Amino acid sequence: MNKISRIAVLTSGGDAPGMNAAIRAVVRTASYHDLHVYGIYRGYDGMINGNIKRLDKADVANIIHTGGTMLKTARSQEFRTVEGRAMAYQSLIAHDIDACIVIGGDGTYTGAKVFVEEHDIPFIGIPGTIDNDIYGTDYTIGFDTAINTAVEAIDKIRDTADSHNRLFFIEVMGRHTGYIALHTGIGTGAGSIFLPETDTDLNDFVKQLQKSSKRKKLFNVVVVAEGNQNGNAMEIAKTIEEKYGVESKVTIIGHLQRGGSPSAFDRVLASRLGYSAVEALLNNKKNLVLGVLNNQISFHSFQEAISLKKELRQELVHMAEVLSQ
Ligand code: F6P
Repeated sequence: MNKISRIAVLTSGGDAPGMNAAIRAVVRTASYHDLHVYGIYRGYDGMINGNIKRLDKADVANIIHTGGTMLKTARSQEFRTVEGRAMAYQSLIAHDIDACIVIGGDGTYTGAKVFVEEHDIPFIGIPGTIDNDIYGTDYTIGFDTAINTAVEAIDKIRDTADSHNRLFFIEVMGRHTGYIALHTGIGTGAGSIFLPETDTDLNDFVKQLQKSSKRKKLFNVVVVAEGNQNGNAMEIAKTIEEKYGVESKVTIIGHLQRGGSPSAFDRVLASRLGYSAVEALLNNKKNLVLGVLNNQISFHSFQEAISLKKELRQELVHMAEVLSQ
């Protein structure tokens, strides 16, 4: 007999396309094993306030293709306090919850890590964030959809940029990590990619721009991560105009990247992670985060996931430079 009979699931932090597919996989896998599943609404705030409801198989029908999260989400300030976490624990006890599955990014994992140090309820983390910045997994849920959305938008911008021969700075999300910018830049053949991790020299950038215009090479799309060290796309465009007299247009793709129907890749990834999270709990694994590395399910501690940085793959950064010449 396994000790676990009631599992709770929540989504927290920024929503990501595919979270619903992960919730569905958790509920269906648990139901297959005759476990009860409880949905916690609005992330850790819902855990504190007892916003917890039973979910059965039918509750997750027809959601695999939907963006957002049926459980809603929040960035809880109260869960950062000892008192908040104590209240959350009481809510879980009141609902006889034996284990929790939390879907989110580093903020979600940080909350989980502190909680399990204080209270004896097993947690399993599933990486859900468009940023793809979680250590221990090649991909996070939502990243693939987000870059496809950005690529689709930039393909459209390229048509008008090309017709008018205009330079566009296109801002994508990523405050601290340039995964979205790098993959979107490669996927759209951007002339240049401004990442948060690298310090782009604006003098060099303008020289490169002038060189390519002499060669009549079309250089009209620059992808900027919102956390670039020269500022956001608006600020960079302003500096380039004031300092070098180069005019440009700016498009901020923003929260468009967070919505929409998840790609097939994200649906499969989310299904695998949701399924594996329940299986892990049934195999007495606890306080771990799941990922997929080299197409195999991987496990890391919360501590590793939040303290180790997933570095950008430098060969991809170099490749993007080579291909944009
Ligand atoms: O972490 C996901 C993310 O979409 C980041 O890429 C972005 O910087 C941030 O969330 C935006 O957060 P909010 O929706 O709270 O403004």
